Amino acid sequence: MDRLMIEGGIALQGEIPVSGAKNAALPLMAASLLAAGGHTLHNVPRLRDIRTMQALLGHMGAVCEHGEAMTIDTGNIHTLEAPYELVKTMRASVLVLGPLVSRYRSARVSLPGGCAIGARPINLHLKGLEQMGVDISLEQGYVSARARKLHGAAITFDQVTVTGTENLMMAATLADGVTILRNAAREPEVVAVAEYLNRMGARIEGAGSAEIVIEGRPELTPASIGVIPDRIEAGTYLAAAGITGGRLTLTRCAPEHLDALIHKLRAAGVRIDVHGDSLTASRDGAIHSQDVKTWPYPGFPTDMQAQFMALMTLGDGVSIISEQIFENRFMHVLELKRLGADIELDGRSAVVRGTDKLSGAPVMATDLRASASLVLAGLAATGKTAISRIYHLDRGYETIEKKLAAVGARIWREKE
Ligand code: EPZ
Repeated sequence: MDRLMIEGGIALQGEIPVSGAKNAALPLMAASLLAAGGHTLHNVPRLRDIRTMQALLGHMGAVCEHGEAMTIDTGNIHTLEAPYELVKTMRASVLVLGPLVSRYRSARVSLPGGCAIGARPINLHLKGLEQMGVDISLEQGYVSARARKLHGAAITFDQVTVTGTENLMMAATLADGVTILRNAAREPEVVAVAEYLNRMGARIEGAGSAEIVIEGRPELTPASIGVIPDRIEAGTYLAAAGITGGRLTLTRCAPEHLDALIHKLRAAGVRIDVHGDSLTASRDGAIHSQDVKTWPYPGFPTDMQAQFMALMTLGDGVSIISEQIFENRFMHVLELKRLGADIELDGRSAVVRGTDKLSGAPVMATDLRASASLVLAGLAATGKTAISRIYHLDRGYETIEKKLAAVGARIWREKE
């Protein structure tokens, strides 16, 4: 296995291009199952999770090639199943369920199983599909879904679910009649999926708001779209500028997707200038401790909680970080404490008392965003930090060590 080595204490300076969003590319790839023929996706990031979705689509009979653009031909789907071997490595595989059962009336998708950051059930996905006329049964760890024909329904989510909203929105595009999704997720990635489905001939209104209306159509046709920039990757590099006291300009990003984070980073003493599709972040004063509560978009993103906590470990006071979305998303705390951070857990909150420095040490990545948090802390820590199990990192960050080394970080990968 690989590990990432970092010699910290360097203020990062320079420009970083932001890649396409993993959490938009994955549902867009699944959406190609709704219309037979050749789809084209531009700006798809080269990540482990993308390769897993490619393998899953290939397993079903799609021809998916990732050159400059990604082409997906779903004209010959012969297997309506998402096997455990693939689903267990990537929960987002559940996104093929809605398209498969809506277009082919049948699907067999492995239950995703547990995850480091929480139970993450898919009960809301399944309840919504049942309301649309799908018979769901759970057998040997698989969801078996059957339907004569899906029909529209008025569905209210008990709680906001991003992939639940995406799954049911995709399923509703080929159902008979109108589906209304209430308490829907408002993330930019949901809006991106709706935009793509409408290019395929769907009739979706309200994406980006809490109420989405989908008028079912008899069939859809293949289309093409560019993947939106990855707001979490961008946010991670903004935090890198803040924690190292450097100055980074991020290009090819969508500043409007980062309002809640930018607000908190500015309050923490990070100067952020917005110009078009670029952001420049710098810090030359103290890091001011801030309280944060994660919340569905447009609130503070849970996917930035671990990275923001890394910044707060060097704050000038006390920061209360409250994780409202997942029940176990503090796996990075014990690892940050190994680097000298002063953090106490209290249920869904972490109390972070700022210290004046972090010191490098061997640490272990436990999940995607926790590993990003450890990279940030390692960049600020004096001495050498070794991060093991960085396959977690490769799921969501395209060539992170190349991007960071290009702006002055002393970071490299080596065999463990
Ligand atoms: C998406 O996961 C993202 N993944 C996650 O990003 C992100 O953290 C999460 O949304 C929240 O923003 C993708 O888009 C591929 P949810 P998702 O359904 O859709 C509970 C990353 O780091 N819930 O919005 O799986 C659930 O347990 C990843 O890139 C149910 O109880 O998250 C959680 O507590 C990590 N039943 C809450 O809702 C359900 O049927 C929000 O989950 C569905 C969800």
